[in-house]
Amino acid sequence: MTVKQAVLRWSIGQFHHPRGVPGRVAGWVMAHRSSNRRRNSWVADLLDVRPDEKVLEIGFGPGLAVAELSRRVGPSGHVYGVDHSEVMVRQAARRNAAAIRAGRVTLIQGTVERLPPALDGPFDAVFAVNALGFWKEPVTRLQELRRRLAPGGRIAIASQPRCPGATRSTSLDAARKITDLLRAAGFAQPRTEILDLDPPVVCVLAANQDPGAPGPS
Ligand SMILES: C[S@@+](CC[C@H](N)C(=O)[O-])C[C@H]1O[C@@H](n2cnc3c(N)ncnc32)[C@H](O)[C@@H]1O
Repeated sequence: MTVKQAVLRWSIGQFHHPRGVPGRVAGWVMAHRSSNRRRNSWVADLLDVRPDEKVLEIGFGPGLAVAELSRRVGPSGHVYGVDHSEVMVRQAARRNAAAIRAGRVTLIQGTVERLPPALDGPFDAVFAVNALGFWKEPVTRLQELRRRLAPGGRIAIASQPRCPGATRSTSLDAARKITDLLRAAGFAQPRTEILDLDPPVVCVLAANQDPGAPGPS
């Protein structure tokens, strides 16, 4: 492995599991990079959350999307988040301190592979931004998330590929893979939205089909 490859692998590791001082720097970069900010606020818009809804984010990082959504839920709604990085939980908790105190946000340190019982749901919406690529056995994880969604609840999985040389075609490939994973996990009506950054952000939205809903005629 070349030095360049080793540095790249190490820095990807900091976005997978931010730890210590390098993890704090990775969190600062994620919180301040303009494309990250636009990506998270766009996904929050796409979720179209009502004030009374309960929403869960997996892998919230510095908590940008949590902050956006906490402004949209009212006293009967709630934003939950889980992230396995202690450093990210601390940064996101600082960013969302007022909403946590007001009882609109709960952030928990944990992994998507073993979701804490406090996150049993049911949720109206579940989402992840640049996080699914890090999960072990993503179809199983998505099935577990579907079980935590209310009938008719929605999921949004967003990705902005960060590999060197990523292009629009890399993003579209990512959208196809996410769509396949969502279908394999039993989600219905997947649709892809695109935010034209460089490279574009793709977000695949799908539904936990209400078993009582009429099927396609
Ligand atoms: C690239 S960052 C994205 C952060 C945020 N969603 C954003 O777009 O700014 C990925 C985040 O997912 C978290 N993460 C990665 N794998 C995880 C897992 N298996 N369980 C929980 N969190 C995980 C990392 O700690 C990190 O905060």
